[in-house]
Amino acid sequence: MQDRDPIMNHKLLTGLVAPRPIGWISTVGEDGVLNLAPYSFFNVVSSSPATLMFSGGRRDGVPKDSVINAVASGEFVANIASRALMHEMNQTSIESSLDHDEFAFAGLQAAASTRVKPPRVAAAPVAFECQVVHTFELPNSNTVVFGEVLVAHVDDALMLENGRVDTAALDPLARLAGTAYATLGEILNVERPEP
Ligand SMILES: Cc1cc2nc3c(=O)[nH]c(=O)nc-3n(C[C@H](O)[C@H](O)[C@H](O)COP(=O)(O)O)c2cc1C
Repeated sequence: MQDRDPIMNHKLLTGLVAPRPIGWISTVGEDGVLNLAPYSFFNVVSSSPATLMFSGGRRDGVPKDSVINAVASGEFVANIASRALMHEMNQTSIESSLDHDEFAFAGLQAAASTRVKPPRVAAAPVAFECQVVHTFELPNSNTVVFGEVLVAHVDDALMLENGRVDTAALDPLARLAGTAYATLGEILNVERPEP
């Protein structure tokens, strides 16, 4: 892999490590401009403390805006995009400069967060307000940003009894490679083995 064209490796990895959840990351720049972009190098890494990560690459050798803003401000919001927001989510992936507000560009309303400055996407069924707890920079490559979840906003319609949530009703979008996405297919249930 080390000798291969990085673009070919990207195609291979994103096509095979799939489907990936999408963290729709909102941040605020030092100048106050809102930023919003999707990241599929995104996941939950711990539930206690509740911790998420996203990994941003570089554009012209410089970290992407979401990374710059999250690192500088110490805050980000990870919104979860459902199928209904696919078009808007895709719009916000536009490669643009730091002074470009993707909320406005995609026609999305921002809703104020309660503990952090970046707003959440009002129409998103789920949003996690996060405080940056660690960043890890791969040499000349991606910056992985870890955030502890301070507040989770969850649409009431997704809440079931006993703390369970209705993932099918969330209807999350997942990324494959290139322009391809997946939604939830058949949901299988299997009991864990007894020790
Ligand atoms: C669904 C989707 C997932 C993406 N995932 C990533 C990712 O994990 N890392 C990354 O660097 N870019 C990713 N991109 C590209 C960024 O969204 C794009 O470069 C965007 O312009 C970054 O915006 P920013 O500079 O405002 O952070 C993804 C694009 C799409 C459409």
